[in-house]
Amino acid sequence: MFYQTLSTVLISARICRALATSSNVASCFPYGSATLPKDLSKPDVSLKDWWCPQSMAYGFQGFSYPLEEADCSHNSNGYDTMNTDFAKMKKDFGATIVRMYYPLCLQPSVFENALRAGVSNNMAVIFQVWTDFGNSDQWKQSQQAIYDVLASSKYGPIAPYVIHSADFGSEPITDGMDGGGQQFVDDLALFRKKLNSYSIRAGISEEWDRPGDMSSSDGSSLGSIGSAIKANSDYCHAHIMPYYHNSISVSQSWSYIEEQIEWLKAKVQLPTMITETQWAWGPNTHNSARKDVGVQQYTQYWKKYDAMCETFKQYEVGWFLHTWRGEGTFDIIDNGTYVIPDWKPQKC
Ligand SMILES: *[C@@H]1O[C@H](CO)[C@@H](O)[C@H](O)[C@H]1NC(C)=O
Repeated sequence: MFYQTLSTVLISARICRALATSSNVASCFPYGSATLPKDLSKPDVSLKDWWCPQSMAYGFQGFSYPLEEADCSHNSNGYDTMNTDFAKMKKDFGATIVRMYYPLCLQPSVFENALRAGVSNNMAVIFQVWTDFGNSDQWKQSQQAIYDVLASSKYGPIAPYVIHSADFGSEPITDGMDGGGQQFVDDLALFRKKLNSYSIRAGISEEWDRPGDMSSSDGSSLGSIGSAIKANSDYCHAHIMPYYHNSISVSQSWSYIEEQIEWLKAKVQLPTMITETQWAWGPNTHNSARKDVGVQQYTQYWKKYDAMCETFKQYEVGWFLHTWRGEGTFDIIDNGTYVIPDWKPQKC
């Protein structure tokens, strides 16, 4: 009886797999078998059949990838470094998307190199306009650099097949980029219109639960800026950061994260990914009062995300590990090795 049941289960699993491979769902990008032509030519597939559906966009996606050297000729902004790093993210962790983080180089080269490294490793890339913490108009140059890539004859045709999405700033409201008010919303709308004209989705990467601006003062709904951002976004890229709530210990962090996911699903109602979330494996200047940090806590934090794979599948929410390298004790790489050794997040 038991064996019969088991073999029935195995057979139906095989049939399911066969069906999945023969449908165009499984041949999609970046979670399926679809591959980018290595010569930067456009795949012979329409964009609507290229990208995988939201139902496949859950669980571990990849890393935030800091690019915080303003000198565009610095190694870290070059193709070789990105190509090597992207390959490791994919091979060692199963990453499918790279989230460019704080690209300080204001020239097209940094975006071109990320795009090429994405093609070489068959990975998607999230572009991000540099916010400069709201201190300057550098976002205009960063934005122009992206526009130049999209308009170029070499990269333009392939770009919508590699660029998963493009964020008009990381925490732009928190940091007051472009004034952080109506002017910002107007410029987000223009950015989105431009990106959408290339069939690329646009939005921002932000803490949506910020009482008084992104959310209402009592936190029960979106605030006026939050509503305006939602109306001008194709998706919700969210920062859920219990690390900055000193009263939440690492062991309590999951219930906070899940509550936030439910809030976003209910209030923002757009395709959602957690683009930023973190814990530290040692003292960190970003929150020097933070206790409950260490390699053990860091490992516990990320392994909990991984363990909740089925829950992320139900929510259709993906997450990124913050960061690869360059943000001190948030990094997965330290002393030349991985802080969590022999760990490859599951595909569930
Ligand atoms: C890397 O080495 C330094 C110096 O020995 C140490 O303080 C640090 O904790 C190490 N990093 C990790 C993640 O163990």
